[in-house]
Parts: sequence; C-alpha cells; structure tokens
Amino acid sequence: MFIGVDLGTSGVKLILVDKDGNIHHSVTKSYPLIIPASGWTEQDPNVWLEETVEGLKEIVRGHEDHIQGIGFSGQMHGLVLLGEDDQVLRNALLWNDQRTVKEVEYLNNQIGLETLLDETGNIALTGLTAPKVLWVKNNEPEIFEKISKVMLPKDYLIYKLTGVFASDTTDTSGTLYFDVKHRRYSEQMLAILGLNETMCPKIFESDEVIGIIKEDIKKTLSITQDIKVTCGGGDQSMGAIGVGVVEDGHCSVSLGTSGVVFVANDHFSIDTKSYLQSYCHANHHYMMMGVMLNAAGALKWWSEQIFENFDYQDYFKKISFAKPDEDLYFLPYLSGERSPINDPYAQGVLYGLKLHHRKEHLDRAVIEGITFALKQTFELIEKLGSKIETIKITGGGAKSEKWAQLIATIFNKKVERLQIEEGPAFGAAITAMVGCETYPTVKDACQNIVKIKDHFLPEQSLVELYDQKYQKFIKIYPTLKTLQNEI
Ligand code: XUL
Repeated sequence: MFIGVDLGTSGVKLILVDKDGNIHHSVTKSYPLIIPASGWTEQDPNVWLEETVEGLKEIVRGHEDHIQGIGFSGQMHGLVLLGEDDQVLRNALLWNDQRTVKEVEYLNNQIGLETLLDETGNIALTGLTAPKVLWVKNNEPEIFEKISKVMLPKDYLIYKLTGVFASDTTDTSGTLYFDVKHRRYSEQMLAILGLNETMCPKIFESDEVIGIIKEDIKKTLSITQDIKVTCGGGDQSMGAIGVGVVEDGHCSVSLGTSGVVFVANDHFSIDTKSYLQSYCHANHHYMMMGVMLNAAGALKWWSEQIFENFDYQDYFKKISFAKPDEDLYFLPYLSGERSPINDPYAQGVLYGLKLHHRKEHLDRAVIEGITFALKQTFELIEKLGSKIETIKITGGGAKSEKWAQLIATIFNKKVERLQIEEGPAFGAAITAMVGCETYPTVKDACQNIVKIKDHFLPEQSLVELYDQKYQKFIKIYPTLKTLQNEI
C-alpha cells in the first residue's frame, strides 16, 4: 500500500492506495489561511506538519504493516525559511500572495527578461519564490540574515519526516532560481537573490527515493518496517500524472479554485512572451502550463458572494447553454490574472448588460467567461506547437457534466473524465509506487491504473456560435485596459 500526501492551501489531503490504484482511505485536515494585509497570504509550516502527522496517524490505522511508500505533492512556489537550528524563521509566503509587485518589476526590468529566460526558462510572476526571497531581503533584513535553509512547502514536511533536505525538479522549477532545461539550480539567479546552493535542497526526480521515514515518526505511527519516501512534486505535475497526462501533447484542464491548462512535452520549450510557465514534469521530461487565478473560484464568488447563500452546486442544475446568443460577457479577473494576460491589476468585468437580461443570462455569461479565459491559454499552448487531440478535465468543476460539455464545445475538442478523481494526492502516490519499483516508470504506472470514465464531444450546432463569441471576448480586456490606465 502507498500513501499520497497533498499539502494544499486549504488543507492537507492524504490517501491510502493499493498498487492497482484503488483508494482504501482518504483523510483531509484543514488549516487556516493567514492574511496579514490585503493581497498577502501566509501559513505556518509547523501547522502543516502537525496536521500531516495527525492525518498520517489516521490513514495508517489498521494498515500499519502494509505501508511501503509515501509520495508528496504540494502547493507550489511558497517560501519556507529555516534558521541555523532548523527553526522556522517566519510564516511561509504562499503562491497566491501578491505583495511582490516591486520585486517582480525589478527582476523583469533590471535583471531583464532575456537573462531570466536564459537562466530559468521563465519570467518573474508575483506568485513565484524568487521575488518572495527578494521581498524578505528588502523588507525583513534581520530575518534574511538568519536564513540557513530555503525550501518549498512540501519539502518542509519531507525534511521533518525523513531528515533529508530534498526537493524535486517539478516543484523547484517554480522557484525562478532553477535552470529548468538542465534540471539544476541557476547559480546566477541564486547570486542575484543573495542565496547559495548549500542553502537549497538536493534535487531529485519526482519518482526517486530520497530516504525513509525517521524512527521517531514511525513510532508515532506504530510502524516497524522501512517506509520509502519519494519527493513527488508540485501539485500541478502531480495532478497531471494523477490523470495520466504523461505523453507528449497530452493535456489536462483543472477546474479548481484556480484553473490550469497543462500539457506534457517531451522537449523543453519556452514561450518568449511567457504568459505560460515552462517546468520539468514528473515523467523526467517537461511540461507547460497556464494558470488562471479564479476558475471555480470565480463561480463560487458569483453564487455565494453575489447571490448570497445560493449553493453553487445548484448553479449547474439550472443552467442551460441551449441558446448562447446574448452579447453578454464576463471577465473573470477577480484578483488580477496570471495566464493568459499576466496582469496583477486586471479586474473582473460584466460587459453588455441590457434591460431584458435576467439572472439566468448572467449565470451563463460567468461560466462562459471562465471557459473562454481557459481557451485563451489553451490556444497559446497550441500555437507553440503542441498537437492536442483530447483534454482530460479534473478538479471540483469536472464533477459537472454541463461544464465538461461546454468545454468540449468551446475548445472544439474531445473532453474526457477519469474514474478516480483524487487529484494531486493520487499522482503523489504514483511516484511512491515507482520509487518502490511496483512500476518501472510513471508512464507505466499511469497506463495500468488511470482509467477514463466518460467523454464529451463538441456540440456541433454551437461550435461556430461560440467561436464568434470567443473572438469578441478576447477583444474586451485589451480595450478596457487602455481605459483602466486612464482612470
Ligand atoms: C501553480 C500554482 C498553483 C499552486 C496552488 O503555478 O501557483 O497551482 O501550486 O496549489
């Protein structure tokens, strides 16, 4: 049996899986988001650790003798800082923290896009780790001076549970001090940040065994045998292998709070405009992804905040896409946007309101707007040469057949859903299976255990109509941006 641990933003999810991919037990432990100022998000790494150990205690109960391996997945880009005696120096700054606008400008403009792309394959975005390091250096020099180790969120768990200071290529790709193409740290970027390689974890591939669980933790869990540990990776790569996206041109769209279009690439390539993130993938190759900050999150906002107490699950029961002929548009940039526009100041918009519009029209415009925004990222990826035939959809939003159908029609592609939907924790467990040599590679594991549940084809009578609407949608943001700059 294998354990997959996904250290998320709202909680840590642990699953117990057998080698055929059957889930025997699942536990989630929640923890709060700390918001010290508007746009700032933090969490206490020690709370992550406490909740993970509690979760492990629950998940192994009754299966103690059968656990072989544990793999990890984690929220990406977060900055965890430890001092000389391994104490946590401050709360972790998270992936969705927006305080680093100045540091991002410095990196993109002073260090320059060319250097960043050469050294890392990516440009600076407010969420990434490197600007967070600079923020601490500029604003909390007394903390910066004390830094002895810099790590990503899940790597803190791995360090505390194994004693091994380790990370993997997929998660470290999201730091902006990692040379993604060559799968090693960028000395130049580390120097720019005032760090050096001894402060950073040793890099492994996602499915390599980095060590075993420490004796004292095993005792707490009443386990006697050795438990092998794989680093797993960043939650996007782990989510992708969890749905079998491991071959060149395979694509997934994840409909969580954020929305992610993800494609596996055998070869490293970069988007020189870089609204896309080019990272290492857990299949020892590469991937590209575009992350929109509010997908299901925008839907939740619409149903719960605007129509207070309107259960957003209900939303799908009532909605109809039979006549999408209204010129009514929603721009889902409710907290700025990463992909496809890379603008932390972008705003949400309802455009085209008329007297005859009723709530049902607005409901439809909201989900169409989110899906159009995802399509825009998808098109950027396709333009870079990926030949994509099918899209696997995952995440909370994938539970809705209507949304799955709408994606098939708006993207004009076949959409598939999976039998097991356990998200990144499942991918993390797969890395443990490979680490324990149950399968030779991640690709083999996926071919054996990831199964398609159903699929959706484009609704041909609506494809053209939606394409016309999409062409209008993509004109709205650049036009309004000019106005926003003026007012
Ligand atoms: C990826 C990203 C998010 C976080 C949240 O670039 O920022 O997916 O990993 O979990």
